[in-house]
Amino acid sequence: MTTPQIPNVNTINRGLPAGKMPELRMMPSPSDANVYGDVFGGWIMAQVDIAGSLPATRRANGRVATIAVNSFVFKNPVFVGDLLSFYADIVKVGNTSITVQVEVYAERNRLQTNTVKVTEATLTYVATDSDRKPRKVPSIETLIGG
Ligand SMILES: CC(C)(COP(=O)(O)OP(=O)(O)OC[C@H]1O[C@@H](n2cnc3c(N)ncnc32)[C@H](O)[C@@H]1OP(=O)(O)O)[C@@H](O)C(=O)NCCC(=O)NCCS
Repeated sequence: MTTPQIPNVNTINRGLPAGKMPELRMMPSPSDANVYGDVFGGWIMAQVDIAGSLPATRRANGRVATIAVNSFVFKNPVFVGDLLSFYADIVKVGNTSITVQVEVYAERNRLQTNTVKVTEATLTYVATDSDRKPRKVPSIETLIGG
C-alpha cells in the first residue's frame, strides 16, 4: 500500500516576493481597526518602524533610533484578519545613519491566495551609543570579523 502524498502548502506561490524572508508577519485584530473595519494607519506605521529597525540594528550592531520617516504610502487598505508580511531592505548606509525601505504585503482570504501590496515606506535610523548620541556605523569588515 502506498502512503498518500500530502501537499506541502508552504510551497504554494502566494504572490509574495520570491526568495526573500519577511522581517515580521502580523495579523491585525479588531482592536487595531476603526469603526469601518479598516486597520489604523498608525498601527501599520508602528509595525513598519519595528520591521525597518531590525536590519538597521543588525547593520549597526547595536541600538538605533528612528530619525526620519522619509516617505510612507498606504497603497491599499488593510483589513482585520489580513496576514501581513513586512519586508525590509537597507538602501543606504551613511556615517551614522542607515536608510531602510519597507514593503508590506497583505494576504487576504488566505485560502484563495489573494495577495496585495498595501504599504511602501522609507525610514532612516541613526546608530546610537549608550548616551543616545549618534555613533559611527561599523564597517562590514568589523561586523564579519575581517
Ligand atoms: C537620533 C538622534 C540621536 C540623532 O542625533 P542628531 O544630533 O539629531 O543627529 P545628526 O544631526 O548628527 O544626524 C545623524 C544622522 O542622521 C541624518 N539625518 C538627520 N536628519 C535627517 C532627516 N531629516 N532625514 C534623514 N536623515 C537625517 C544625518 O544626515 C546623519 O547621517 P550621517 O551621519 O549618516 O551623515 C536624535 O536626533 C534623537 O535622539 N532623535 C529622537 C529619536 C527618537 O526618539 N525616535 C523615535 C523613537 S526610536
